[in-house]
Amino acid sequence: MTTKTLRQPAAMRHVRALIAMTEIKMPRFPLLAATALAAAGLAAAPLLAQTSAPTVSLSAEDALTPYYDQLRQRVTLPVAGPNPALSPVTTLTRIAFGSCNHHLAPQHMWAQIAAQSPQAFLLIGDNVYGDTGWNADAGLESLRAAYEKQASHPEFRDFRARFPMMVTWDDHDYGLNDAGGNFPFKRWAKELFDTFWGSSEEVRARPGVYESRIIGPEGQRVQFLLLDTRYFRSDLKRAEWTRERAPLGSYVPNTDPAATVLGDEQWRWLEQELAKPADLRIVVSSTQVLTEAHQFEGWTNFPLERARLLTMLEGRAQSGLVILSGDRHAGAIYKDKAPGGSEDIWEFTSSSLNLAFSSDVEASTKREPDPRRITKFFGIENYGLVDIDWKARTLTMSLMGNTSNTLAQHSFQW
Ligand SMILES: [Fe+2]
Repeated sequence: MTTKTLRQPAAMRHVRALIAMTEIKMPRFPLLAATALAAAGLAAAPLLAQTSAPTVSLSAEDALTPYYDQLRQRVTLPVAGPNPALSPVTTLTRIAFGSCNHHLAPQHMWAQIAAQSPQAFLLIGDNVYGDTGWNADAGLESLRAAYEKQASHPEFRDFRARFPMMVTWDDHDYGLNDAGGNFPFKRWAKELFDTFWGSSEEVRARPGVYESRIIGPEGQRVQFLLLDTRYFRSDLKRAEWTRERAPLGSYVPNTDPAATVLGDEQWRWLEQELAKPADLRIVVSSTQVLTEAHQFEGWTNFPLERARLLTMLEGRAQSGLVILSGDRHAGAIYKDKAPGGSEDIWEFTSSSLNLAFSSDVEASTKREPDPRRITKFFGIENYGLVDIDWKARTLTMSLMGNTSNTLAQHSFQW
């Protein structure tokens, strides 16, 4: 999601130029040309496109392979540090989550969350702001530097050493504001992600960073489904510019049946995962799912994909379900009827850990009216707590402020 300080107009121009190319006209030695292109930070891409040499179809990703082979030898990829494993037999009663953590902003939230003694913590996107200062280089040096800075914070390192973490990404740690599957440097962004967070072999072996886990004994199994809403996502559709632009974002719904958020492979995976037995499912999407009240990023940008997801999640009354999301620099709780109309689907958004957009909760709430939101809209720093009472089969969502004050709380049974 766009924030005022994070725009990269020059960088965007370079990347758009590259993205616009469906094929690159290469001179006689395509890979050498690709290496040169990459080494030049891709500013030379439009020049290459003007040569009269024969046309060779070559994806930007493939063109960059030799460049990354060299880069890997030259740079050190930062790591987040040791993290305890979450035993698969743990009965989970409290997890915490958060999103939108700027690596250059104060890291006071980690101690607040630690004091709640969660059994696991989900960091669900915009985990660093790696596109801050990006100069359109294919090596994503600013992203690498952001991870390095994040790893250097003792507050974060201490937290990570104590609490098992599960992680997915959003645009700012994917490499570019609001970027999707056409971001040409996503393979390198994934390598940085996998290395930093110590992704499982399964995640490393496939495109994207989506992952699932089932934790707990039979009768108390929690399934975590961490989606990747970036790596495969189709291009967003932008509203025509007018003087009276919508104040809540500039995207319009993309109703192209071929447009996707998750991509075929991840959809197949999700369907298979949802077929596994579980007693509670926690679906993590970096961007919001239920709301249609704004035109920033969210599943609302792709209504057919949103409907597909909600239909897939429907009918799971026997296993409770909550969607966790972030990205918005505000937190809230949402409820909607599943497409069949018979059951409620809950969504709990927590954002940001340290990059608040407004201290005026009333104004934030008023600015974005939303019939699906059952709480105020908290543009102040926050994190989320999910408490599970297995006996009562009750899930409690608590949105917590930066002094661990409760901003909003709601429970539901399943
Ligand atoms: Fe975001």
